[in-house]
Amino acid sequence: MTTLTFIQPDGSEKSVAATEGRSLMEIAQGAGVAGIVAECGGSAACATCHVVLPQDVFDRLGPPEEHEEDMLDFADAPREPCSRLSCQVNVTSDMDGMTVRVPAA
Ligand code: FES
Repeated sequence: MTTLTFIQPDGSEKSVAATEGRSLMEIAQGAGVAGIVAECGGSAACATCHVVLPQDVFDRLGPPEEHEEDMLDFADAPREPCSRLSCQVNVTSDMDGMTVRVPAA
């Protein structure tokens, strides 16, 4: 089992069990994580699923595709160096213990 911890802007945390192969957005929504709205349902068209990953995970994943890069500029919260759309990141076993920061909207 892969456990992820989502951290809110106020510092509160929520740890959730994540199924490999599902997106971070799906995991967050299924667990009721605040701040992950996901208006477009995961098609990288709304940027309401914006999260900030740890640097090492961000590096390991490689850069976002061009469309995701463009959408991140439309996120409510300012984009950060390790920002990603959570609907475009699938859970893998090596993410066990990862913290995912939900930016202030
Ligand atoms: S759910 Fe809309 S961009 Fe991720």
